[in-house]
Amino acid sequence: MSRPADRPETYDRVTRALHWGMAALLAAQFLSAAAHWGLPRGHIMWRILWSYHLPLGIALFFLVLFRGIWGLGNISRRPVHSGVMGRVAATGHIILYTLMVVVPAVRILAAAGNKKGFNLLGIPVFPTRDEHVAWMRAPAEWHGEMGWILGLLVVGHIAIALIWHQWIRRDATLQRMVGRSKAVR
Ligand code: HEM
Ligand code: HEM
Repeated sequence: MSRPADRPETYDRVTRALHWGMAALLAAQFLSAAAHWGLPRGHIMWRILWSYHLPLGIALFFLVLFRGIWGLGNISRRPVHSGVMGRVAATGHIILYTLMVVVPAVRILAAAGNKKGFNLLGIPVFPTRDEHVAWMRAPAEWHGEMGWILGLLVVGHIAIALIWHQWIRRDATLQRMVGRSKAVR
């Protein structure tokens, strides 16, 4: 098996695994957020779906950092986004990345600034403090709102991929992320 790397015709298997794996995990994360928003506390589905929000959110944070480093390392080899529409698409991807980092980051920062400290799956991550650190907790006020904005942008991203690229233009954009392009190794 050759060394994984993106090419101008297609995304490689690592990029595709990160894209689709994180899409599935983010779907589960939005399901848990929706349960938090819409179900009464104590409801069995609320407890099941909310139980994984924190650990999964932290896992997604580290995954997106790895994905960003991987993407930057491959940037000169990736499919090119040229023209005005290409620049719009690239800007959309940068906004998705930014929110995928910032949304979990503000909550992790708030946990670090909380006087209760923070345990993850029984493992102490941040120690207890004498006082809350206000500036570390303030950005998390926007965690939910930014999370829902990310969700809306993902819906737009999916609509563009399916309706614009796949059904209207019938180009190879989806194929290069699915891995069915003729050029895929
Ligand atoms: C990509 C990762 C994440 C996404 C997409 C996400 C999304 C969301 C959304 C949309 C809400 C609002 C739910 C509502 O309206 O009731 C929410 C709430 C919440 N999330 Fe996350 N979250 C993520 C990561 C995290 C992490 C890492 C933590 C903690 C370490 C966390 C802790 C919370 C808490 C405590 C709430 C309820 C209070 C609030 O709305 O701020 N989340 N999350
Ligand atoms: C939570 C869900 C999703 C997120 C956050 C997301 C994010 C991204 C990002 C950041 C890129 C740029 C390439 C990269 O660095 O990976 C991308 C590319 C792409 N995504 Fe998604 N995506 C999601 C779900 C989907 C779904 C469900 C589809 C298809 C129905 C899709 C279709 C595509 C396609 C076709 C590309 C390649 C676009 C191009 O090269 O211009 N994505 N996605």
